[in-house]
Amino acid sequence: MRIGILTGGGDAPGLNCVIRAVLKRSEQYGFEVVGIRYGWAGLLNMDTVPLKYGDVEDKVGEAGTVIKTSRTNPAKDEATMKKCIENFKKLGLDALIAVGGDDTLTAARKLHEAGLKVVGVPKTIDNDLKGTDYTFGFDTAVNAAMQAIESLKTTARSHDRVMVVEIMGRHAGWIALYSGLAAGADLILIPEEPFKISDVVEFVKRRKPEKGSLTIVVAEGALIEDYKGPITKDVKVDQYGHVYLGGIGEFLAKEIEKATGFETRAVVPAHIIRGMSPTAFDRVLATRLGYAAVELVRQGVFGKMVSLRGTDIVSIDLSEAVAETKLVDKSLIELKNALTS
Ligand code: F6P
Repeated sequence: MRIGILTGGGDAPGLNCVIRAVLKRSEQYGFEVVGIRYGWAGLLNMDTVPLKYGDVEDKVGEAGTVIKTSRTNPAKDEATMKKCIENFKKLGLDALIAVGGDDTLTAARKLHEAGLKVVGVPKTIDNDLKGTDYTFGFDTAVNAAMQAIESLKTTARSHDRVMVVEIMGRHAGWIALYSGLAAGADLILIPEEPFKISDVVEFVKRRKPEKGSLTIVVAEGALIEDYKGPITKDVKVDQYGHVYLGGIGEFLAKEIEKATGFETRAVVPAHIIRGMSPTAFDRVLATRLGYAAVELVRQGVFGKMVSLRGTDIVSIDLSEAVAETKLVDKSLIELKNALTS
């Protein structure tokens, strides 16, 4: 058995743990593993590297991915999909393990329907995949964001400032909400609950004199109801059609300062939260998922994604896994609002 493995989309702490588990389990079964470099781009360009357990055995604590990644979309048209399937055969592969988020796994689903023998492993710091209770990378990103917010609270206190912290998470507010709650942020703005600048200004005018300093967490994809213009000049789109986010923190900070006169700063931890050494939770989850993916390959079960349900690792159809985005639920939004009023 010759298995290909690729990591696609934004990197997430824990990817090397998946690769390590895949290699160890494969070695025990006598399977050969080939790393496909730069995600789907590696399959299109036949850019591969032979992998041995020794390549990753001491990399459990390293974020990133030893086989690299990219946001290449292999399912953008029929010809590109056909090339992927041809190259899979040319490389002599019997199975492919695709580790990625919504985009990578949606492509995996389409390629499976076109005949590719693929198993998916969910990863994203955003935690927005419906088919799994948690994605690895999320816990590390939350802890890193929490530390950043906490440290910004300290400096905000010294200067009696308003601090706006913009946190990644695309169209789901999981990282912003968890890290904001964990760090005791004064206000948390997430995409699931569009906000008005006028309400934020009112909040700051009321709470700042009471408290001295304020820390506001805003998710990069948060939606503003009372402003419809662009928040940055630069609008770029990736191969999957996603607009690159970023800029809302700076925009909001300026609006707050303009309307209140309070000194306001914006900070964007951005990719820093993606590059931290994975937490124990993420390492163990990633390891369990990598191991389970090899078990599926061994059983000849394809078109599935391994997933965490409660405390169990199960497998579900890729089509179910990517059917919709997992957004922050109502009860957590109520909790957030109660704690940040
Ligand atoms: O999907 C993970 C993520 O970190 C998002 O939170 C963020 O919007 C995006 O990737 C950033 O993408 P890039 O690394 O391509 O700038």
